[in-house]
Amino acid sequence: MGPRSRPLAPRARFITFEGGEGGGKTTQAQRLREALQKHGLNVLVTREPGGAPGAEQIRKLLVAGAKDRWDPLAEAMLHFAARCEHVAKTIRPALAEGTWVLCDRFTDSTMAYQGYAQGVGPAQIKRIAAAALGSFKPDLTLVLDLPVTLGLRREAARAGSVSEVRYSRMGLAFHRTVRSAFLEIAAGAPQRCAVVNARPSADTVQANIWTIVEERLLG
Ligand code: TMP
Repeated sequence: MGPRSRPLAPRARFITFEGGEGGGKTTQAQRLREALQKHGLNVLVTREPGGAPGAEQIRKLLVAGAKDRWDPLAEAMLHFAARCEHVAKTIRPALAEGTWVLCDRFTDSTMAYQGYAQGVGPAQIKRIAAAALGSFKPDLTLVLDLPVTLGLRREAARAGSVSEVRYSRMGLAFHRTVRSAFLEIAAGAPQRCAVVNARPSADTVQANIWTIVEERLLG
């Protein structure tokens, strides 16, 4: 068999984990990494805001400090500045070398938090996203959904989050808007997004995520 008749390796995929606070995105991204590695794939787990040295510096400006420290539009632009750097320095190079990328939050978070809950507006976020990313978007977005009070309780119990409390302090109404925004985003993009019930045990959520990944990306 000559090299031209060999089947091409499937393209590396870009999967994002989205949702409000305390939904277990970080845990589930790690678990999916292990499952995909067992499947023989190279996998990188990364996060936003952050995921590249410059983007991690921008993260510090966003996740700590007073709730109203930024004008909401400036805040949205900081998230996209970090994202632009993250895509250029980490995500695109990994995908280009055949590594699957699992990202803890991406553009849908800016749409939900800044676009809806902080009032920047969806049209403005779409314009900034187009300028920063062009047509680049995830192959699959898993929206981990759970009631806001449960999510905030889980988030507060999580070790290591002591200094990164700026968004979790934004109040119940804010987080309820975030939750409904994510559900609206998912309903508007059903081919890209899947809503996953994040209330059950981590094992159950992991199994449900694997079913979706198998059906949509590995089938
Ligand atoms: P994390 O807790 O998932 O690490 O995310 C940090 C916080 O940043 C989280 O409360 C949500 C917020 N955030 C936004 O408001 N907009 C964004 O675009 C992103 C990526 C995160």
